[in-house]
Amino acid sequence: METLVLAQPDLSGNETKYVNDAVSSGWLTHRGKYEPLFEEALSKRFGKAIATSSGTGALHIALQSLGIGKYDEVIVPNLTFAAPASVVLALGATPVLVDVDPQTWCLDLNKALDAVTRRTKAIIPVHLYGECAGKYLAKLFQLPIIEDNCEGFGYVEPTGTMTACSFYGNKVITTGEGGCLIGSVEKATKYRDGGFNSEYYHDTPGLNYRMTNMQAAVGLAQVERLDDILRKRQVGLDVYNQRLKGRGKWLFVVDTPDPKDMMAFLKESGIESRPVFYPMHLMPPYRQEGDFSNSVKAWRTGLCLPTGPHLKQEQAHYVCEKVIEWHSSLTRTSLRRYKLTGLTEQPIPS
Ligand SMILES: Cc1ncc(COP(=O)(O)O)c(C=O)c1O
Repeated sequence: METLVLAQPDLSGNETKYVNDAVSSGWLTHRGKYEPLFEEALSKRFGKAIATSSGTGALHIALQSLGIGKYDEVIVPNLTFAAPASVVLALGATPVLVDVDPQTWCLDLNKALDAVTRRTKAIIPVHLYGECAGKYLAKLFQLPIIEDNCEGFGYVEPTGTMTACSFYGNKVITTGEGGCLIGSVEKATKYRDGGFNSEYYHDTPGLNYRMTNMQAAVGLAQVERLDDILRKRQVGLDVYNQRLKGRGKWLFVVDTPDPKDMMAFLKESGIESRPVFYPMHLMPPYRQEGDFSNSVKAWRTGLCLPTGPHLKQEQAHYVCEKVIEWHSSLTRTSLRRYKLTGLTEQPIPS
């Protein structure tokens, strides 16, 4: 039985043609023709954008460009891939973890407002699994907003001071590894590019988060077909939304009282799935005290299902049938056990 994988890129456009062209041009670094073309295509659609070597790099240079460092605080949701908190720590600042909204699983904006202090220098709302954490949040917080749209590219319109996106292999579009930063990126570009001029005079302690010409070649071909990719992705999402309870657009996350057991059952049925991110406060580098009950509940009651342009309608129905079969095999005893631990508060798929 062939496994239905969680994510798979759609490389059926000009990707190979452009990469071959990039290699045969002899320009392998960012100085080839594809980086500016890729950036132009991104900028046309989303506003001023620069390509980066990863989403993490985009977040890092965004915070650097704001001058964030020691004694500063940055508000980060407690349920996320760890990169936003890691870049804050890398700059010597403090990530202040805030619980998530129980519906969207994105930053709880009221709790985030309560967490603002004199030291808060920025907020990083994460559009988790492609759900929107909120728009035009700079107005609400009166602080710089660095949107983490690594998972919401193509789904969430960038409205922050800067918006970081990831083009890692499992994302909505991919360049293998890669990312971009959108918005007020002038200063951040210096940090991306090393911070020096043609005489190697540094006016900025810059880094190197540039994208290669080959990656940008793939990226250009991907952006050309973004609408087509989003259309293909929607086929499976429509089926999931009709038949299951859950959330997410980059990955659809189904509600379940026992993610581990469901994951094992799906694996036996040839379906790859993935647990929800660990709540940040439970991991040693980010440990913090506080009420993080919504993130904990999300982590204990969610499982990511295969989502993407590769997922055909009949495969999405097959996944739904297996999810429903797993739920209907739950015994009265196990249901009571889940109830005792509070895990059946999330609705079970009908
Ligand atoms: C929410 C979130 N932020 C940041 C990143 C980091 O992106 P990258 O892997 O391109 O560095 C990811 C990628 O997985 C992510 O999911």
